[in-house]
Amino acid sequence: KKVVLAYSGGLDTSVILKWLQETYGCEVVTFTADLGQGEELEPARAKAELMGVKPEHIYIDDLREEFVRDFVFPMMRANAQYEGLYLLGTSIARPLISKRLIEIARETGADAVAHGATGKGNDQVRFELSAYALDPDIKVIAPWREWDLNSRTKLIEWAEARQVPIPHNKRGEAPFSTDANLLHTSSEGLVLEDPWDEVPDYVYSRTVNPEDAPDTPETIEIEFERGDGVALNGERMSPATLLEALNELGRKHGIGRLDLVENRFVGMKSRGMYETPGGTIYLEAHRGIEAITLDRGAAHLKDELMPRYAELIYNGFWFSPEREMLQAAIDLSQEKVSGTVRLKLYKGLASVTGRKSLNTLYSEKVVTFEDDQGAYDQRDAAGFIKLNALRLRLLGRRDR
Ligand code: ARG
Ligand code: SIN
Repeated sequence: KKVVLAYSGGLDTSVILKWLQETYGCEVVTFTADLGQGEELEPARAKAELMGVKPEHIYIDDLREEFVRDFVFPMMRANAQYEGLYLLGTSIARPLISKRLIEIARETGADAVAHGATGKGNDQVRFELSAYALDPDIKVIAPWREWDLNSRTKLIEWAEARQVPIPHNKRGEAPFSTDANLLHTSSEGLVLEDPWDEVPDYVYSRTVNPEDAPDTPETIEIEFERGDGVALNGERMSPATLLEALNELGRKHGIGRLDLVENRFVGMKSRGMYETPGGTIYLEAHRGIEAITLDRGAAHLKDELMPRYAELIYNGFWFSPEREMLQAAIDLSQEKVSGTVRLKLYKGLASVTGRKSLNTLYSEKVVTFEDDQGAYDQRDAAGFIKLNALRLRLLGRRDR
């Protein structure tokens, strides 16, 4: 029997690889995704080979464009934020990894997939709900829920006894756990566990401290077409290239840091630190272009649906009919969301300073405090207010 393992090449998934071979006596296929985590992936190939994985069973795929085009951008069209703040950087990557796991299982004739998420978090739920949605008969192996290697020390001892390659910096206690991709880096656990303790400086890896960011602001322009970013400062870019370029700008200006206590789907509260440099700039810009191109009714309905949509992604229901229904509505709203937004980046903030669009609904002629030459009849407002006030006045009279 064969199992496809979501393999990062790190200590945990290397132990899992070995453990699957030993415990299940099965052939392991490894899948390593390049989601822009900024790590060399070829070492993963060497390690997998060292542990006896056949060369044709080692998959290393560059999924960066697909990730941004088909997952991050659609999510950004909704301005999705979980619990008002979290830009869902880890949550949105899981369905794509599961999708590839299932495809590879089909290609190699495997009947199971395995992942390295712990039994305490959201990621196990996301991986598995996606996998079951795409293949109802797939078997899922989650070693963290099965083995008794419940501490770092045990894990390393187990690895050493079996010559599993251990990265040198992992021999000691890792001070926290991270997950990274083009959209964000998240850090949780250990030194971050007490929510009263400030996040130590060394936990941040992809933004400068806003206090040390340049003293002069930087002005940029992002162009949108139908709700998606297509160009930066006049230069057209693919989705992943655009997000990468925004990440660099965000890094420099210390944008997108977030220290958050959130509610996990499995019930507990957890404290994490997120860095979402490019995504934070992008979201601000997207809201900026929507402000002049979206009708109020559409905009407000979108904002009502957003928390629900964000929660679906957070809870692992990307591949669900209700997420797809919401997506269809959100995508429809984006038809006229085209134009250019200007932003100022300065010490941790991305602020919109200008927006323009051929589809603008903003009418200077109507809104002006100067002579509007009949564009708007102020006398209309009197009846509008009176009828809106009618029920308030009836209430007032009754309760006086
Ligand atoms: N709490 C975040 C989420 O549920 C991140 C989880 C993964 N992070 C990690 N450091 N392992 O989306
Ligand atoms: C994990 O449990 O593997 C990471 C944290 C989470 O999934 O919420």
